[in-house]
Parts: sequence; structure tokens; C-alpha cells
Amino acid sequence: MEGIIRENTDEAQRQAEFIVKAHDALLVLERKAGRKLKACVVTFGCQMNARDSEKLRGILDRTGFILTEEELDADLIIYNTCTVRDNADQHVYGRLGRLTGLKKKKPELIVGLCGCMMQEETVVRKIRKSYPVVDLIFGTHNLFTFPELLARKLSGERRVTELWEGTDQIVENLPVKRKFRFKSGVNIMFGCDNFCSYCIVPYVRGRERSRLSRDILDEIRSLSDDGVKEIMLLGQNVNSYGRGLGNEMTFSQLLREVCAVPGIERVRFMTSHPKDLSDELIAAIAEEPKVCRHIHLPVQSGSTDVLRKMNRRYTRSDYLRLVEKIREADPDISITTDIIVGFPGETEEDFEKTVSLVKEVGFDSAFTFIYSKRTGTPAAKMENQIPEEIVHKRFERLLETVKETGEAACARFEGRTMNVLAEELNKEPGFVSGRISHNIMVHFPGDRDDIGKIIPVKLTDCRGFYYFGERVQ
Ligand code: 5AD
Ligand code: SF4
Repeated sequence: MEGIIRENTDEAQRQAEFIVKAHDALLVLERKAGRKLKACVVTFGCQMNARDSEKLRGILDRTGFILTEEELDADLIIYNTCTVRDNADQHVYGRLGRLTGLKKKKPELIVGLCGCMMQEETVVRKIRKSYPVVDLIFGTHNLFTFPELLARKLSGERRVTELWEGTDQIVENLPVKRKFRFKSGVNIMFGCDNFCSYCIVPYVRGRERSRLSRDILDEIRSLSDDGVKEIMLLGQNVNSYGRGLGNEMTFSQLLREVCAVPGIERVRFMTSHPKDLSDELIAAIAEEPKVCRHIHLPVQSGSTDVLRKMNRRYTRSDYLRLVEKIREADPDISITTDIIVGFPGETEEDFEKTVSLVKEVGFDSAFTFIYSKRTGTPAAKMENQIPEEIVHKRFERLLETVKETGEAACARFEGRTMNVLAEELNKEPGFVSGRISHNIMVHFPGDRDDIGKIIPVKLTDCRGFYYFGERVQ
């Protein structure tokens, strides 16, 4: 059926056998080296990549590598790349240059590349030609073949490359090593069919495919059994979950089912496309106390003309009306967004409309991006690309506005007592850091034992976008 990802249990079994092979090959290398070998996975880009990296770490851990966060310490380094903007690509090339130096000192070093950048032919051609430091290349569609490719590399093959143009299968139950014990991302869908005219994602992540709700809920139940309290449902466009799956659930039904899983206390989701955010979903958000009071709703521009050229399929007033509806359902909810500055043809007037929309909505925060031309997208061929100096000036102005609205929005919690999920130790000794349901960061007195617990904290001291607070218990 169109849109379904086939669950392939045979393939999972096959890959599990490759983990054993990789393990045996690793033992030989360790004997040669006279020590255990270490692996490091570096993630660029979005939450989807962060989740993929947890899968890579799971496989490396099961193979027998010691996992490290220190690149310089590692015998195997994997870069999980992003290509949404050109500066992400340039950053990876820069780091590969440094690894070339490192490999001269450490010839046994293995360097792997995967993720969205690898789904672009021109990138792979350049890497093959100019970066001999890279030993292993694979893409987003065949991440699950990593055990097989790793086994080949560890057994002495020189350069292992495997890239697929697409896939209709999902391989469940490969090992995963989570960054946080108490929270986890869960993919509910892959790919994107929206084809916003500036965006490369539909080309590198492929067509939209939803996972079956049964598989998603099984995964969440087992995460809950493993101590997870907070789930982030992940997809490029979660609101269109289930499209093409016949009688499957809608996203709002799925959200309610996830909330019903015992042990799950918070549910987040990302990203929502304004054109698909239904009244049914707004009701589910308002009615389910476990759904976090935060919605990330990328607007991209405040000008209807620009939105049309971006192929976003909503107008400025559609967006404002949506925000109104969300706030009618819950006046206190946090709304954050993504904005692109300098889209081809953006006039001063268009830009002013973006600034005024930011003020009107009063976003809690916004990720602001300078438009980046991505080869192969319709916008790359548009006339009237905006000169860099103008874009930079606009960008600075927008940042200023976002800072003002963000600080004003954050201040609304001053003096209130809110539940904070403590996530990590703060650099400041004796403090921990966590988030309220509205996704605002709070630092408060605590220790290691607090990590993973939900703790009531009085938000006493607003420092712009975050708080210092006092424990109530
Ligand atoms: N240039 C600048 N920003 C982009 N984004 C996506 N493509 C581009 C591009 N070509 C931004 C959008 C999207 C976010 C993930 O990245 O704002 O919401
Ligand atoms: Fe890109 Fe638009 Fe799809 Fe988001 S919805 S991934 S911006 S094409």
C-alpha cells in the first residue's frame, strides 16, 4: 500500500548477524592495537538526525566499541550530516580537513559519513575525489545496513560506500543507545512531500512514509518500560501522519494513544506544518494534560506573496488565524517558529511584514535563517536573489525583534511554580537544568539524583530566555 513502510524482520535478523561479524573483526583489530577501541558519533542538524545517531551508537556499542564524545580520542568517527543549508555542508568539509591531519598521526583511524548530505550526488562525488580520509559512506535510506557496512570496513575493505535513492522498508528492533535515559525521540514518519520551493529535504529524505501506529506504540511501551518519561514524536510534517495508510489513525488520534501509555508523562512533537494543523489536533492538545504546552509552527515569512513563492500553501492571515485558534484553546501555550530571511524576491515591504508578524504573534522564540540556495530546488532558479549585505541587515533586525518578543513572552512565568523535568547537571556546581512543559529552560539547585525526575520549581529569576528557580519541595 502506498505510504506504508514495510517492516522487515528478516533484514533485522540479517543485520544482527553482521553485528556479530563486526564484533569478531573488532576483536582482531583490538588485539593488534593492544587496547579497546573507541567510537564517536557527531550529529549535525535536526532531531531526526539526533535520533538516527542514537541508532548508530546502539550498533557501535553492541559491536563492542567504547563510545566517546571526544573525537580526538576515537578510533572510529562518524559524522551524521545535515544539508538543509549550505553552511552545514561547509562545516563538514572544514572538519574533514582537520580529520585529514589527524589521520596522518593516526593512520588506523576510520572515518564514516552518513546523513542527508550523502543523498546528494555532487557531494558524494566531491568527497570521493577530494577527501580520501573518508572510509565509509552511507545515506539516510540505508542507515539500517550500518552493521553490514561496518563489518566490511572492520574486516579490511578499503573504502565502503553504499547509497540508496529511496526505500520502502523500515527495519525495527536494531539496538539503540539513547543520549538521555528518561526521554526519547520516536520517528512516526519519514520524508516530506511538501516541496517548499527553497527546501532540499524532500529530495534527500524522500517521499513521506508513515510508520504503522502499532509499531510506534509498541516502541513507546518498551521505552516506557525502560524508564522513559518524555516522548518527542518526530517527523518533517507530523500533522499529515497516516496519510496514505488507509484506515490508520490521524495524528491527533495517535497523540491521544501515546498519552495513554502508562509511565509516559510528557509528549512533545515536531514539526507541524501550518497548512495541516487541524481543529481536531488543537482539541487534543488542549484536552490531553500530558501533551506539552509548546507548539513549533514554522511560519517562514510574514508576507503572503513570499509564502506563495515558497509554496507554503497558507497566507499571512491563515497563519494568524491559526495562532488565534491555538490560543483560544490554551492562552498560555508557547509558540515557536522558523523564519527565512532573504528569500528570492523578498522586498523591504515583505520583510517588514515578517517583522510585524513576529510582533503580532509574540513568539516565545524563533529560529531565524538566512536563505541558502540549494541546487535542485525551484527557488535556486528564481530571479532576484537578494544581495548579501541587505540580507544581513534584515537578519540582524529580525534577531532584535525576536529577542524582544521572546523575552517578553518568557517573563510571563515569573513567580509561578511549574514542573521541571531535570535533564542534566549544570556547569555551575550544585545546580541542575531542565525544561518546563512550555519548553523553557530552568536552572535550579539540585544534584545527580534529580536527573530524570519531574520537580516543582518556583521560577523566580527571569534571565531573558531562561530562568533560575527555587525548589518548592
Ligand atoms: N535556506 C534557509 N533556511 C532553510 N530552511 C530549510 N531550507 C532552507 C534554506 N534553503 C529552514 C526552514 C525550516 C528549517 C528546518 O530550516 O526554516 O523550517
Ligand atoms: Fe522542507 Fe517544507 Fe518539507 Fe519542512 S515542510 S521539510 S520546509 S519541504
